[in-house]
Amino acid sequence: MTATPLERVRSALTTNQPALDGLFITRPENRAYVSGFTGSYGYLLVTKDEAVLLTDGRYVEQALEQAPGWSVVRLQRPYEDALMAALKRLDVQRLGFESDHLSHADYANWTQKLPAIEWKPTIGVVAHLRRYKTPQEVAAIRQAVAIADDAFASVLNFLRPGLTERQVAAELEYTMRRGGADAAAFETIVVSGARGALPHGRPEDKQIEAGDLVTIDFGARYGGYNSDITRTVFVGGGKPPTDRQREIYSLVQQVQQAGVEAVKPGVVCSSVDKLCRDMFDRAGLGDYFVHGLGHSLGREVHEFPMLVATDETVIEPGLVLTVEPGLYIGEWGGVRIEDDLYVGENGTEVLPRSTKELILL
Ligand code: GLY
Ligand code: MN
Ligand code: MN
Repeated sequence: MTATPLERVRSALTTNQPALDGLFITRPENRAYVSGFTGSYGYLLVTKDEAVLLTDGRYVEQALEQAPGWSVVRLQRPYEDALMAALKRLDVQRLGFESDHLSHADYANWTQKLPAIEWKPTIGVVAHLRRYKTPQEVAAIRQAVAIADDAFASVLNFLRPGLTERQVAAELEYTMRRGGADAAAFETIVVSGARGALPHGRPEDKQIEAGDLVTIDFGARYGGYNSDITRTVFVGGGKPPTDRQREIYSLVQQVQQAGVEAVKPGVVCSSVDKLCRDMFDRAGLGDYFVHGLGHSLGREVHEFPMLVATDETVIEPGLVLTVEPGLYIGEWGGVRIEDDLYVGENGTEVLPRSTKELILL
């Protein structure tokens, strides 16, 4: 039987350098992953023998229900004192904390209040466990993708010149919620015409004009898991695309396809980024590809490992990765195409079904 997240955290206590008596988990996504508790506030303390979930009165019932087997401690005001008392009671010597999440102010305060504990910074202990998705996690991501895919198909019927970027983003988010999303995975990006040169531009009151390429980057959250898809469509309103629009689109499409095909077990993450970057360089457009090729996806939209120049992780089954090349050309506009891939035992699967051929509206 595969180990539970709690059991895997316990193993990590001994393999961590230095070995730890306990891990104090503050990052919300890690809290949910390890305990199952999804409330907005709380801490976990995991030792070899204990699993303690500390939360406030709003969430005690929920914590008891979602995290069977955990000792649920209700924090009472002043929370900080209650937290310190709980930590002290557990009497750990060497306590790991999430140094890439705990604020410096809390760290300074807590270490001062409990100087008998050796506070040991850790990075990525739980993130490392989270990289390989279980079948249940993949099922939630599939559903998040399906909701986003369906909403996009519906919004294509709505998209036309004269609508503002903000209206299109609102329609897409509303459609995803109606389709079963718990929330949008992130602020939906809709950028049109020259604004397409902003990779993460916010939708504005700018009207979409006939002849604009429109980049839409969107995702749904479902059961705690996210999707993250980008399509760039042509809103012609009777006009045909220019040669330049077709050429840039076609190049991004080819690079994206090459990236998708390269994501396989045994391949190093950075090499997939390089393969795509080299294709843009050969076309003389490398300077316009200004971000990494992709990232893992799960409870957070951006997880490790990533398809970037500095990530030497070897791809293995169980990862869910995005592949999202784009070109961003100032005063002209941009094109990005993004898919979510599941690296399975029997091959890599592209999860979104939305076409990547240039859609002409
Ligand atoms: N929408 C955020 C991203 O694509 O990474
Ligand atoms: Mn995206
Ligand atoms: Mn992405």
